[in-house]
Amino acid sequence: MLSRWSDQRVIGQHCCPVLRRFGISSTQQSATGVAVARSISDIRSLVGDLRSRDAHVTIVPTMGALHAGHIALIESSVSRGERVVVSIFVNPTQFAAHEDLSSYPRQEARDIEMAAEAGATAIFAPSPDEVYPDGFATSIQVHGPAQGFEGASRPTHFAGVATVVAKLLLMTRPDTIVLGQKDAQQVAVVRRVMTDLNLDDISLVVHPIVREDDGVAMSSRNRYLSSQERLNARALSRTLGHAKDLVARGERDATRIADSALAMLNASDGVVPDYAALVDASTFAPVTHIDRNTLLCVAAQVGPARLIDNSFLLID
Ligand code: PAF
Repeated sequence: MLSRWSDQRVIGQHCCPVLRRFGISSTQQSATGVAVARSISDIRSLVGDLRSRDAHVTIVPTMGALHAGHIALIESSVSRGERVVVSIFVNPTQFAAHEDLSSYPRQEARDIEMAAEAGATAIFAPSPDEVYPDGFATSIQVHGPAQGFEGASRPTHFAGVATVVAKLLLMTRPDTIVLGQKDAQQVAVVRRVMTDLNLDDISLVVHPIVREDDGVAMSSRNRYLSSQERLNARALSRTLGHAKDLVARGERDATRIADSALAMLNASDGVVPDYAALVDASTFAPVTHIDRNTLLCVAAQVGPARLIDNSFLLID
């Protein structure tokens, strides 16, 4: 059957033995031994089976193209004794028509291998048609923290994120969901959705940003960068460091810090800033005076990639 998501490559099904451990008919076991569920009913049975054995089930939602940042999320959950389900789903509804849905990196076999090595118990890799069946007509519109910043630059993005994350939580009913702090506004949006839709019996764990040695935040989109653009990308984390220095020297005025950060991004080669803003990490409302919940968020175009980064400013 042709997918309605014509620019989404649907990943082929592997022909693997039934995973008897879970008693599931169509869940596959990858060469790595990790269970790969492609249907909602299979992931439900799999999670149900884990729960019946008193396991603490954690979902790490991803769009694949796993890197060390994702692996840190998986490994930290595994180290707490949790059973980790990694979802791999390039969610079409969070991309605008002009964005990189068709070129978004896809490497499912490698992702499964990496997740298995990191200790994941299962992969949930549904097709777009499984997640969005024919006639799908529901979208979760988030106000509050979804407004401004990424929400302004990508007006349809957070409705897509909110909808798919809520669906993933309902499909898998985990004990915990883990998100990365790099997407700080996404964290605030998901937290709002989980509270507003009574999904707050599931804990939300936020994992700190994982950075390359030179400070660049790990991102699947870094692979779009040429070697020169990759060097230019250091401007974002350098700018956060500069703002933290200002705060360490006693500056508390949000406008002065944001202006200085923006000036630094503007002066950086090959970087076209979108914003540098000081916000409350929970509400994403702009702040005038900084406190411990104040985040500096930056976004910029570097070559073909739109990159984001952030940091709390008051850290002991
Ligand atoms: O952060 C991401 O990779 C995505 O936005 C998420 C949370 C997996 C939803 O598609």
